[in-house]
Amino acid sequence: MTSSTKELQERIRALKSRLSVTVVAHYYQRDEVFEMGDITGDSLELAKRTRDDSAEFVVFCGVGFMGESVKVLSPHKRVLMPKIACCAMAKMIDGGYYERSVLTLEAAGIAKEAILPITYINSSAEVKARVGQMGGMVCTSANARMIIERAMKEGKKILFVPDRCLGQNIAREMGLASCVIGDGSDPKAADILCYDGFCSVHQLFSVDDVAFYRKKYPGIVIAVHPECDPSVCEAADFVGSTSQLIKYIGALDPEQKVAVGTEYNLVNRMRPKNTYVLSSSKPECPTMNETTLEDLYATLRSIEEGAPINEIVLSEETAYWARVALERMMAL
Ligand code: 13P
Ligand code: SF4
Repeated sequence: MTSSTKELQERIRALKSRLSVTVVAHYYQRDEVFEMGDITGDSLELAKRTRDDSAEFVVFCGVGFMGESVKVLSPHKRVLMPKIACCAMAKMIDGGYYERSVLTLEAAGIAKEAILPITYINSSAEVKARVGQMGGMVCTSANARMIIERAMKEGKKILFVPDRCLGQNIAREMGLASCVIGDGSDPKAADILCYDGFCSVHQLFSVDDVAFYRKKYPGIVIAVHPECDPSVCEAADFVGSTSQLIKYIGALDPEQKVAVGTEYNLVNRMRPKNTYVLSSSKPECPTMNETTLEDLYATLRSIEEGAPINEIVLSEETAYWARVALERMMAL
């Protein structure tokens, strides 16, 4: 860490001590930004813990949908983002694309009433609101299986947006049939109908990477996030959300080698040794990496100067229905 980084961190700490503010940082943030977080965690933990926090301002270091989720669950709080960076997957679907998927399914002979939508938390408040209006709910990678299991009890087909990999991986785990909407297969034959979105970072991991590490280090364990392609998840020893990966890897014998298929910043600080990134490239999430210490400092300064920048603002209707969808998940 350079002396200018340390100096900026000191200035940020001093500003935090003078303001009614909580700095929130997702695990994928750059190390020097992550260290400034009063609350750190995965997307679900952050939304829950921020709701229970009493500061007037939340400065959220993460991607747009995460800041929006905090605003939806805590409408009285003022939520600012040092960079309103949009997750590539969340960007793949908006209200219009969502409606068109429902129309495609109707055209294939599946009535709207026979569909229960579930959106991965990696989606805009607008998409969450459409899902809430249709009786559906939100899930995260940590609880997707439980949410789908409960939802299936209604006897409907699940419309899963926007991550096809997470939808297909859970379907495989549960022994259910899945399809990707618009790929030519018959949606009537599937239980889980997946929208065709994906994470540009987790797509980087391949079955060849798994084979490479197994050959190089016999006995190595392969652990991946369920946003990876189903072929990679099938070839892995463990599949889990961010918090589940941290727990699983933390419990391994220190001498056990592990190759991890998830975001670089997280893997890098996960475990001091015997831990490899399951890729020959550096799988950093470009949008998570956009937030710098300078951005965080500028955001805190803007609060002190009485002119807060980059504030999350949602229409009342969007916030209401997105909250309905998020609270249905929380209630489960
Ligand atoms: P978590 O819900 O595990 O925090 O993941 C968010 C994400 O963007 C994963 O790529
Ligand atoms: Fe979105 Fe993928 Fe980045 Fe997660 S890692 S924030 S899903 S682009």
